[in-house]
Amino acid sequence: VFRNKLTFFAAAKVSSSFPPPNLPEIAFAGRSNVGKSSLLNSLTRQWGVARTSDKPGLTQTINFFELGKLCLVDLPGYGFAYAKEEVKDSWEELVKEYVSTRTGLKQVCLLIDTKWGMKPRDRELINLMEKSQTKYQIVLTKTDLVFPIDVARRAMQIEESLKANKSIVQPVMMASSKTGAGIRTLRTVLSKFARY
Ligand code: GTP
Ligand code: MG
Repeated sequence: VFRNKLTFFAAAKVSSSFPPPNLPEIAFAGRSNVGKSSLLNSLTRQWGVARTSDKPGLTQTINFFELGKLCLVDLPGYGFAYAKEEVKDSWEELVKEYVSTRTGLKQVCLLIDTKWGMKPRDRELINLMEKSQTKYQIVLTKTDLVFPIDVARRAMQIEESLKANKSIVQPVMMASSKTGAGIRTLRTVLSKFARY
């Protein structure tokens, strides 16, 4: 499915403008600047379709992309956006509403920056997904910026801290959009959600 052309087809600022859930969906969530849009581009080998930036808070709407028989969703980041408080709150509410109520949502990839680890906002989203029984997968990003041993340590630390959760936790995955490390494995894991 990752060989298909990535086509942007909808942007939503409110849940009433979400497109009809016609395809299985995979969403990319996480703090601002963690590398959500970059990962989407890297997975599909189509750079520039999901816009990325050095400046946190670039993605300000929920963006829906069609990829063959799969829908990929780029979510706005939470955390340190250069945006007004009320704007930030509204994105965050929108993301929460999306992950807890969206029909057809098969998996949320929760991206965590390897260097910084899990933060309270990530934990909050995890708790919400546990409550709404949304399936999620933790993906450590920007693994090229730390030593391999630190990537492994971070993964263990996160798995350890999620043990208390009720749901079965998938092993943490790792990826670098810059070097491509881990991208193929992630593609394989996510491909199984596509409709054939
Ligand atoms: P928001 O839309 O603001 O929530 O950010 P985002 O999570 O979509 O992040 P984005 O993909 O725009 O990337 C943010 C910055 O991190 C950009 O400067 C990217 O080039 C950089 N970046 C993303 N992935 C990687 C990676 O794997 N390695 C390195 N070194 N840099 C990365
Ligand atoms: Mg983005």
